[in-house]
Amino acid sequence: MDVFEAIHTTRAMRRLDPDRPVDETDLRKILTAATKGPTGGNRQPVRWLVVRDPELKRRVGEVYRQVAHAALDASGDSDSPHARSSYHLADHLGEAPVLVIPCAEGDPARLPASVYPGVQNLMLAARALGLGTTLTTIHRVKEDAVKEVLGIPPQVNTFAIIPIGYPLGHWGEAPRKPLEEVVYWDRWPS
Ligand SMILES: Cc1cc2nc3c(=O)[nH]c(=O)nc-3n(C[C@H](O)[C@H](O)[C@H](O)COP(=O)(O)O)c2cc1C
Repeated sequence: MDVFEAIHTTRAMRRLDPDRPVDETDLRKILTAATKGPTGGNRQPVRWLVVRDPELKRRVGEVYRQVAHAALDASGDSDSPHARSSYHLADHLGEAPVLVIPCAEGDPARLPASVYPGVQNLMLAARALGLGTTLTTIHRVKEDAVKEVLGIPPQVNTFAIIPIGYPLGHWGEAPRKPLEEVVYWDRWPS
């Protein structure tokens, strides 16, 4: 797949087929793409925790369900397409074939810039192989509960939970603001 097609059609795919496994060869390709992202000083601090064990996924999914429901309920939006798909993921994250959790030890204020480029690579590589992903971070409200389930040491930060699987929905171009609205040339506009 052309890189621009992958970029244009990679978006939050929250409805994933729980019964269609992800091939390990594909998973390794995706993870390799993730490791190719840039990191400060090429220090490569990220450890990619891949969760496939059904019981562990279920327990992580339960933490996610609680925090995601609380956030969605508080938002007051229960009926938009975004809310419906978010509630779906809240209830089914633990059933995704694979959960990937990028982790890193160090200053949580400085690390994200070295974590998310790899995450985006991971999502683009998954898209190129026909696999859906969603970048989620809401678990961080109860990060310790997730860390306890997976035996992640206290000094290690978790930056996302990315469910991976074959999408039940359709691929489509993500709606984004037009360039005229978000790009300034040479100077900040007055
Ligand atoms: C920093 C960040 C945190 C996010 N956290 C969540 C999350 O916890 N749960 C979720 O369902 N989606 C989460 N998302 C996905 C966004 O809601 C999604 O990328 C956005 O709505 C655009 O969706 P689209 O690419 O399908 O157009 C997150 C995205 C980002 C960049």
